[in-house]
Amino acid sequence: MIVRVNQTFFSLYYEPNAVEVATGETDPHAGAETWKRETKSLGQVATPQPVAELMARWVMSAKPTTVLDPAAGIGSLLHECCRLNHDAQLVGVECDDETWRQAKCAAPRGTKLILADYLLSNGGQFDGIIANPPYVKAQRLDYSEGNWRYFEERFGTSLDRLTNLYALFLLKIWEDLAPHGRAAVLLPAEFLNANFGEEIKERLLIAMRPPGLAIFTPTLNLFT
Ligand SMILES: C[S@@+](CC[C@H](N)C(=O)[O-])C[C@H]1O[C@@H](n2cnc3c(N)ncnc32)[C@H](O)[C@@H]1O
Repeated sequence: MIVRVNQTFFSLYYEPNAVEVATGETDPHAGAETWKRETKSLGQVATPQPVAELMARWVMSAKPTTVLDPAAGIGSLLHECCRLNHDAQLVGVECDDETWRQAKCAAPRGTKLILADYLLSNGGQFDGIIANPPYVKAQRLDYSEGNWRYFEERFGTSLDRLTNLYALFLLKIWEDLAPHGRAAVLLPAEFLNANFGEEIKERLLIAMRPPGLAIFTPTLNLFT
């Protein structure tokens, strides 16, 4: 397979069977109905279209040239980004083989789809990142102690071993966001009160300093 791309990161993933280019034949929002989701260990939950659109508006209004979804699913967030700007180079990372295959048809045409564990991947920086990271309790993660130490070194913070997967994603997203880049990340509100979140909240307030937090009212169940 020959894939032309001007981003150096891509060569890192240039292995047979780990990179695909999406054809955009189907609509990912429609495809969500046939997406066989596994929620407990993969956190596979589709973002509703209105929320995806809101997030995409925020990211795309900064006119990024490259946009990453590190937990791509079948590509609905990237689909919303593409509707706002056809020219941005889109990249999706997904660790579940079956979902990644489904994304090949459903993600926008030309999207680079990488089959990898995002936390262990090294794809370089992006000026746009859009994500609904997987909610997976630490007890269900099978990272070794060596992996956790690697995350601590890489993210520059000590980590409670009870940290949920979505919080690890947030830390890596911050590392992968280019200077002056823009990210929209959908997180559960428990994050603001979780014990494991202390170090991460500190990082959020001191280093990341997000320009805005939009909090959905608890009475609104987004994922019905
Ligand atoms: C909450 S879903 C979001 C899917 C899609 N982006 C959306 O917003 O509708 C999270 C996705 O992350 C994938 N995932 C879980 N762990 C991952 C990991 N370590 N690296 C990359 N993808 C992962 C899951 O398989 C799932 O497709």
